[in-house]
Amino acid sequence: MNFSFPKDFLWGAACSSFQIEGAWQEDGKGISCHDKYARIPAHQDLYRYGGPDDGADFYHHYREDIDIMVEHGLKSFRFSIAWPRIFPDGPDKINQPGIDFYRDMFSYANEKGLNLLIDLYHWDLPQWVLDRGGVASREFITWFEDYARVCFENFGDQVQYWSTTNEPSVSVFGGYIGGDLKSVGRFPPFECDKVKAFAACHNMNIAHMRAVKLYRRMGLKGKIGAVIDAVPCYPYSISSKKDWEAGERAFDFYAGKWLGPMLLGKYPESMTACFHEDMPENYAEELTREYEPIDFIGNNYYEPHYAEYIPEKPYFKAAADPEIGEAREREEFVGMKPYPVGLYDIMLLLEEKYHPKEIIITENGMSVKRDETNISKPSNIHDENRIRYMRAHIMMLARVLKLGINITGYHVWAVEDTYERTSGYRHDYGLIGIDYDTKERIPRDSLKWYSEFIQANT
Ligand code: NOJ
Repeated sequence: MNFSFPKDFLWGAACSSFQIEGAWQEDGKGISCHDKYARIPAHQDLYRYGGPDDGADFYHHYREDIDIMVEHGLKSFRFSIAWPRIFPDGPDKINQPGIDFYRDMFSYANEKGLNLLIDLYHWDLPQWVLDRGGVASREFITWFEDYARVCFENFGDQVQYWSTTNEPSVSVFGGYIGGDLKSVGRFPPFECDKVKAFAACHNMNIAHMRAVKLYRRMGLKGKIGAVIDAVPCYPYSISSKKDWEAGERAFDFYAGKWLGPMLLGKYPESMTACFHEDMPENYAEELTREYEPIDFIGNNYYEPHYAEYIPEKPYFKAAADPEIGEAREREEFVGMKPYPVGLYDIMLLLEEKYHPKEIIITENGMSVKRDETNISKPSNIHDENRIRYMRAHIMMLARVLKLGINITGYHVWAVEDTYERTSGYRHDYGLIGIDYDTKERIPRDSLKWYSEFIQANT
């Protein structure tokens, strides 16, 4: 059997600004929501391991990190711009050193021939945005458009792929309501307000469309899309037709509230049938008016979801993994169960339901817990387990490519060890290990394996 990959396939790795940059108060950077909430005692259930102050210090080490990526043959680097570095205190004043940092870093990556896929907003909302009403406020659309304009003007000639947002189910909707639609959200501003959650969802979709339109009007040469975490939602019981239907509704609700607007210009019917009353006024008309198609969709894949039908409600219940039979501790990222077939299924599902012009796998990866007695030292440098993980997922990718689906890139999460919102520096995702005391970079075996694989396949 012969599997092959296109020669120009974007083999890469990903990270985001607040998770590796450090320098949280340097050169005029403003406070992000995580900088703030990590310091509030009442939020220590989530931020019990501190905030993203220092970390891998990519801000001062980016040349070294880009060199390591390029030496190992990586073709693509997915990263994000920290909005609070560009607009530190409000929508009016731009911070020039913030612009200079990204301009220098992108220009270094360009010189080395790395493709850049850059998110405008990957979870580190400036605190001033939240103070003025957050994504739930209509003004968010203007703030986002202005921020996008500054980024396109300053970096538009350097970036090949732009994404407006990353996993908004977590960072936008999830800020205003919990997954059961009853409890408090698990992301700043930690509210419990379904109507605000739907308003934020709609505002994010409109802000996204405005940014895409703006990008086109500016005549820039790259592509623009968004990054979603669409995963298959399997039935809890495969003998129950109702559970299969519940799985579809759960998918429409979790991922379709972004994919529908962004790729088809409308919300999924199963979602509006249930939540029409909670949605902002005239949402459907506004979406039709503002709709602007995207060039590609980025998708993050880690593990599938499961759904179960609940008789008394027309909707669904998120279920435990039937193979394990109980809900896992999701806070600890180590609890994510590798399920490579899910990658195959989600690519097929995206293709069938949304026909995107191009798909890029923007995240896929696994974490390993650090030794808590020696927390500054990277774990698992000889990471056979990660090599097996990557191999299994890349084999699935090979199979979907054979079906002719236009997938053009794959990014391992993460380039290097990162700060994770709920586990601080306790879980290592990196192809490169970071010693947090010395800031030494230690390439893991998985990076060497990936490098040989890329060489053999380009
Ligand atoms: C998805 C997010 O985009 C990223 O920020 C996070 O670190 C990874 N998942 C791993 O949990």
